[in-house]
Amino acid sequence: QDWRPGLDEPLTFEPVEQNLLDELVTATGYSYGVVMRWGDPVEPDAPDFDVDAQTPEAQAKQFGYNCDYIGLLPLDRSGNRALMIVNHEYTDEQLMFAGVADEEAPTTVEQKRIALMAHGISVVELRRDGRTGNWRPDRKGTRNRRITPVTTFELTGPVAGSEYVRTSADPEGRSVLGTLNNCAGGTTPWGTTLHGEENFNQYFGTSTVITEDPREPRLSRYGISTEELPGRRWDEIDPRFDLALEPNEVNRFGWVVELDPYDRTSAPKKRTALGRFKHEGANVQIAEDGRVVAYSGDDERFDYIYKFVSKARYRPGIDRASRAHNMTLLDEGDLYVARFTGDSPAEQIDGLATVPADGEFDGTGQWLPLVKDGQSMIPGKSVPWVLTFTRLAADRLGKQLDANGDFPDPAAPVVVEPALLPTRMDRPEDIQVNPVNGRVYAALTNNSQREVADEPNPVSRSFAFDIEDGTYEERSGNRNGHVLEWQETDGIAGDDFYWRVFIVAGDPETPGTYFAGYDKSQVSALSCPDNLEFDPAGNLWISTDGNVLSTRNREEGTFAGTNDGLFAVPTAGPERGHLKAFLTVPFGAECSGPLITPDARSVFVSVQHPGETAGSTRESPSSTWPDKLADKAYPRPSVAVVFREDGGRVGS
Ligand code: FEO
Ligand code: CA
Ligand code: CA
Ligand code: CA
Repeated sequence: QDWRPGLDEPLTFEPVEQNLLDELVTATGYSYGVVMRWGDPVEPDAPDFDVDAQTPEAQAKQFGYNCDYIGLLPLDRSGNRALMIVNHEYTDEQLMFAGVADEEAPTTVEQKRIALMAHGISVVELRRDGRTGNWRPDRKGTRNRRITPVTTFELTGPVAGSEYVRTSADPEGRSVLGTLNNCAGGTTPWGTTLHGEENFNQYFGTSTVITEDPREPRLSRYGISTEELPGRRWDEIDPRFDLALEPNEVNRFGWVVELDPYDRTSAPKKRTALGRFKHEGANVQIAEDGRVVAYSGDDERFDYIYKFVSKARYRPGIDRASRAHNMTLLDEGDLYVARFTGDSPAEQIDGLATVPADGEFDGTGQWLPLVKDGQSMIPGKSVPWVLTFTRLAADRLGKQLDANGDFPDPAAPVVVEPALLPTRMDRPEDIQVNPVNGRVYAALTNNSQREVADEPNPVSRSFAFDIEDGTYEERSGNRNGHVLEWQETDGIAGDDFYWRVFIVAGDPETPGTYFAGYDKSQVSALSCPDNLEFDPAGNLWISTDGNVLSTRNREEGTFAGTNDGLFAVPTAGPERGHLKAFLTVPFGAECSGPLITPDARSVFVSVQHPGETAGSTRESPSSTWPDKLADKAYPRPSVAVVFREDGGRVGS
């Protein structure tokens, strides 16, 4: 390769304009290929896709719906053969099937079975065109594999076998069927992939009202209904989704999954030592002393950021013994939750996201232990309890417990030790470590309900430009999200860090946005950062989900929304903060899973839920990407790969 990682490499592409096109629009000089679409054959004996003749058996062998995280692992030294690992987060039945009026509408038993099988993970062998950077699937790949909600998984770590995960089908509490709502993920240094189980709550509910102990809301704290069955009604195809029949099944979801994609027969593992919450994903870093650190965000309004530190040390090498050892690292260690402390007076954090007097939204941070040296840090509660009900455990930090060592009744006064409270964040999404400067970056996607700003979450109101009279309209909450960066100050596995806000997203022409101090007239508008990726030069790439910005047409005086996309921004040097739109995804889609190859010649993105807009259905979809069929048009969530037409490195 003709360059060194970390070389100061400017991003030279011209930014893509905001648009509402039903097309994947790249920067000039780039092309894209569609790598895998919903329904494309994965397993060797998978049938071809037929949207009108879909069956659960076919879907179980084909590429699933709503692709998200993308991992890539090498299959040889050429860099042109690789395993692609993709999450399938959820399904849009109204776009998959004829006759489903909207996302709330009931579905048939057969449709539920198909939707179930469209969840999970795909592993697909790929080959690259050595000239262009384009990639294609190898349909005969011997490692091609579909993992679905009926694949057998192992529960591992401290919760395995505990009272919280035993069910009638699995009285030992060690074996789970499947994974659900896999959002982001990460690739480990030992060649496995991690997959967050995010909004698992939406699949569970109850046929009989459940009364929870208000001091310990194990279900409602996770958004799981105690009163009714969810609209999906998967209990009709499998009773384990009804809490009244199988109360512990829901505790077997909400974990980080580790998969060995090289071994087609391996059972994926749910690594319980990383805690149970709405894991966006998880990313691993090797500390100076060889311990392994995994960062994970809990994607909920006002929830927390976590860090796991392994007990054992990483063993370098890809021989069988080293790999087997490294695949145990995530089963034993310490779990922490983050506290961010600002260093500016509260009155300077006025909710308008104006920069405080010291010039930065910044401060110090502490990792507060929940499990340490194999011991629970929550009085009266066991390690399996802390790891299964991690949100409840984090909520108790800094609070005075009652005489029984229990959490007080919500009605009782709570004595609080502020220095011990973890910080409630604006929906923590992907967390990634910059390979060049070692800093950690976290996407906070938005929080429409934030009314009180603090320094790490400095937006409580945002603005929309009104073209009619040139005024700004206030809206409540942090609608466009932000990006934090931090530096571990006591070693990567340590307790302390220094943090600052890197970006406050929004239309740069509106007040209260911030792009690391860069000239805002030069940057692209950004909204709802979700997934993060770095290129080898240390530039941060940000994909977005749920863009709420309006585009303005000054001549016509009209508003429109704008599609989500992928953005790139230098994190160091004079260009730090110079964010530019690299691509936009088709209408109604979110952009997720960005993945840049180690030689930076290809960037993969998941085009998730194209056409998922109000009133859009299989009969009348608002997107027909990527097939654009003239008859029976429908959208297909797909993984696309973008490459430079001259074969060069993306971005530069
Ligand atoms: Fe599935 Fe947090 O995005
Ligand atoms: Ca400050
Ligand atoms: Ca996401
Ligand atoms: Ca998201």
